[in-house]
Amino acid sequence: MKIAVLPGDGIGTEIVAEAVKVLEVLDLNFEMESALVGGAAYEAHGHPLPEATLKLAKDSDAILFGAVGDWKYDKLDRPLRPEQAILGLRKNLGLFANFRPAICYEQLVDASSLKPELIAGLDILIIRELTGDIYFGQPRGRRTAVDGHFPGAEEAFDTMRYSRPEIERIARVAFEAARKRGKKVTSVDKANVLETFQFWKDVVIDVHKDYQDVELEHMYVDNAAMQLVKKPKAFDVIVTGNMFGDILSDEASMLTGSIGMLPSASLNSSNQGLYEPSHGSAPDIAGKGVANPLATILSAAMMLRFSLNQDESAKRIEAAVQKVLEQGLRTPDIYSEGTTKVGTSQMGDAVVKALSAQ
Ligand code: IPM
Ligand code: MG
Repeated sequence: MKIAVLPGDGIGTEIVAEAVKVLEVLDLNFEMESALVGGAAYEAHGHPLPEATLKLAKDSDAILFGAVGDWKYDKLDRPLRPEQAILGLRKNLGLFANFRPAICYEQLVDASSLKPELIAGLDILIIRELTGDIYFGQPRGRRTAVDGHFPGAEEAFDTMRYSRPEIERIARVAFEAARKRGKKVTSVDKANVLETFQFWKDVVIDVHKDYQDVELEHMYVDNAAMQLVKKPKAFDVIVTGNMFGDILSDEASMLTGSIGMLPSASLNSSNQGLYEPSHGSAPDIAGKGVANPLATILSAAMMLRFSLNQDESAKRIEAAVQKVLEQGLRTPDIYSEGTTKVGTSQMGDAVVKALSAQ
């Protein structure tokens, strides 16, 4: 088994180092190899996703990814921006199924901006389609308008599109996941306005015929955004397209108190996966040793479970994270009065210690 370790930019290097520490103490039999990605790769090789990094990723069973991006690259041509690394990996490896759990830990109920009773015990799973939709649809670009409100004006356009097999496979992933948990899927669309999402809804209804034991509901994306803050515990599994999933998963992450706690997995049809925290590279706190490494450590647990077939070790990591929270250790993002504030590496060390004590 081989893991590609791609720390990336900003706090990426700091948090991935902690997850690697945790994996090493498990003493499992796999090889880890690191490579540059994002802005760091652009600086060294002139491209955010160099051939060698892509090849390493393709040849690995799993990828442990930190984060990419920095404001200083905002002026580069789009193909050279750090974000293209993550989009390129998703596309080249066919990582179409993105799992973004939003779980509220009992110890962190007060860290959320929502009332504790709304989020205590929250456990929802957002399944976001990751290789289609307006993110990748062609054509796109800039041109001179020939019609519309201002013919002759400069305009820009993107293409929203989904094919039946793309919707079918992500719907199956969602129904299968729901079967193992609350047995309910909310399919989020904008069928009242968009042709693409009327089709999405029709296909999800077709696929549901094979999953009659799972309850299916449909919700427009604007309403879903509202229900997520009104009654989040009414959701179990949410399945949606690439762009709606991008937006709703950030919203859902805040229900849990801190995006610094949320892992994610992006899988292809052979269970090869990319595992990354749900948050970004946070250049404002990079290098200060204060970033929360738990999302990345929990992503490593997801990696063990989904791509490396090591469910026991995954559970051990999750229990160790639970333990350090019980001990009252908190990075600044989840700190509250009466707990102990720690830095990135102290948090990683505490997880390692909790693992060794099991
Ligand atoms: C995410 C991020 C990415 C996305 C960016 C960095 C390209 O926001 O993983 O949610 O939009 O998918
Ligand atoms: Mg996002």
